[in-house]
Amino acid sequence: KMEDSGKEQGISNGGGLVYEDKEVEENVRPDDLSEMLAAGTKESHDKAENTQFVKDFLRGRIRRELFKLGTVALYFTYTAMEEEIERNKDHPQFAPLYFPTELHRQEALVRDLEHFYGEDWESQVSCSPATQHYVDRIHEVGRSDPVLLVAHAYTRYMGDLSGGQVLKKVAQRALKLPPTGEGVNFYHFEGIHSAKSFKQLYRSRMNELELDVPTKEKVVAEANLAFQFNMEVFSELEEIGKTLQDEVLDAGFPVHGDMQGDINK
Ligand code: HEM
Repeated sequence: KMEDSGKEQGISNGGGLVYEDKEVEENVRPDDLSEMLAAGTKESHDKAENTQFVKDFLRGRIRRELFKLGTVALYFTYTAMEEEIERNKDHPQFAPLYFPTELHRQEALVRDLEHFYGEDWESQVSCSPATQHYVDRIHEVGRSDPVLLVAHAYTRYMGDLSGGQVLKKVAQRALKLPPTGEGVNFYHFEGIHSAKSFKQLYRSRMNELELDVPTKEKVVAEANLAFQFNMEVFSELEEIGKTLQDEVLDAGFPVHGDMQGDINK
């Protein structure tokens, strides 16, 4: 097994030992919130990874118009989430997870929308029904049960830190976005140099929250709800994708000759 061979071989790192498996590095208790969330949302994560929209995206089968709408959905979601995080930044059941400079995405999303829609982006975008459901729930928990904001922050930020780099590259390649990062600012966390270390810090902060087991279970249930909201947004985008006409899609982005095959590479 991985951890056994790691232990025996013990990669040397200037006197310290580096182990690949986190279970070897630190003590893991089954009622640590980070463990309960990882285990308790595993099934939801598998489902989310296997939605058609996500599978298409990973294969580079994402069209510009749909990617733009995805960015709009993220904008409304993070605006709501970060508004509620600000409201609760001193709440003892959220405060240790308050990392605005490292995590907050709203400004990055505004820059992406400016790139795709221009200066007057605000007059051109609106919140879709599935996104509105998600947004309503975020405001509800932020106002009446702030500990559940932990679940929403976990589901989005930990996911963004895990898959961000891959998704950024896929989008840049599929949409032929400039290598400078315009249009994909969302995926770039300027204030985080090691996603892996930051995720460890975030997990330890989650575990330091003073929560009893029933409350932790409520947080896990809310995280599963957050995954569900995300999947509803994905299916909505998938449906819109089916109705988009290729001519409309290609209008701003002429594709000709053998470049057409690029999308499937
Ligand atoms: C973690 C892959 C979609 C939420 C991860 C990790 C990977 C991954 C490799 C790292 C696990 C670790 O650090 O040990 C993917 C892939 C996806 C996908 C390939 C499909 C494109 C999603 C979606 C969400 C999400 C749609 C939710 C909106 C999370 C969360 C974590 C995570 C919350 C942290 C798990 C934890 O350590 O507790 N994902 N993911 N992922 N992902 Fe995803």
